[in-house]
Amino acid sequence: MTERSIRPRRLRSSPAMRRLVAETRLHPADLVLPMFVREGIDEPVEIGSMPGVVHHSVDSLQRAVEAAAEAGIGGVMLFGVPLEKDAIGSGATDPDGILNVGTRAAVDAAGGALVVQTDLCLDEFTDHGHCGVLDALGRVDNEATLERYREMALVQAASGSQMLGLSGMMDGQTAVVREALEGSGFVDTAILAYAAKYASAFYGPFREAVNSSLVGDRRAYQMDPANRREGQLEVELDIIEGADVVMVKPAGSYLDVLADVAATSSVPVWAYQVSGEYAMIEAAAANGWIDRERAIDESVLAIKRAGADVVLTYWAVELAERLRRS
Ligand code: PBG
Repeated sequence: MTERSIRPRRLRSSPAMRRLVAETRLHPADLVLPMFVREGIDEPVEIGSMPGVVHHSVDSLQRAVEAAAEAGIGGVMLFGVPLEKDAIGSGATDPDGILNVGTRAAVDAAGGALVVQTDLCLDEFTDHGHCGVLDALGRVDNEATLERYREMALVQAASGSQMLGLSGMMDGQTAVVREALEGSGFVDTAILAYAAKYASAFYGPFREAVNSSLVGDRRAYQMDPANRREGQLEVELDIIEGADVVMVKPAGSYLDVLADVAATSSVPVWAYQVSGEYAMIEAAAANGWIDRERAIDESVLAIKRAGADVVLTYWAVELAERLRRS
């Protein structure tokens, strides 16, 4: 055999051949749709910074969850947008707070066809926009915040959330929530730990989506984008503390971290393609600078190729429908 007879192009020669030898495949069940439910609206309201993504009323949330189940995606991740915010994020632990109302409605609409998950974090509910409560000096107080997360976990589990997305990046949050759930008999409520979550500019459009009042940034609790090894530490801690799934976030700019985690994690590894990743492709496509569908498909495929078992993406339903047609 000569080197000239080794021809990698053979396996690229036809659509059928390429399909057969593809190393990575997307499937609707691997996709989770993040959704926003907003208090005080009757009709969906488009989010300016995320064209195609809306704030749902409780009713429209139910219809959208039914459509998501119909499309065959694996789950939905709910975020609440309350009317009133305060220093401790009271709305988060009110059983009649918008996220908890939305959760009960979504669980009803899903009818068991997909997994209803909820964001467990205070930033949507606090008037200062931070993910926790503040101490006298205005810093996010880790231990006081854990107390709030403990309460939030119990209210969310009681509302029917099947998986709690711990996105606040407080030290010890997974341990505290796991202990609270076990202590109250919620033994089947799963924990999705946002283990390696970076302080990212790519969350920009999301801040508009939750009407965030954040002044400053989250660098004192979210990870420094410079750090790769530290992602492993965060993942190890979350697994020891009782995480059922670990997440890397954002996804596209952190594929190295994702590949590291995928190589070593003993629990499923998910990745979150965040609002800025969504907005960049939509904006370029709207300007005619990029082939929208190809760019979307490629961006999500790359996240799977790097090692994600499941991808949270605002395109989940669109992608699932395209996959079903192909
Ligand atoms: C925190 C949270 C954020 C996102 C998901 N959960 C915002 C943040 O950490 O600033 C961002 C998601 C996105 O940008 O799509 N509750």
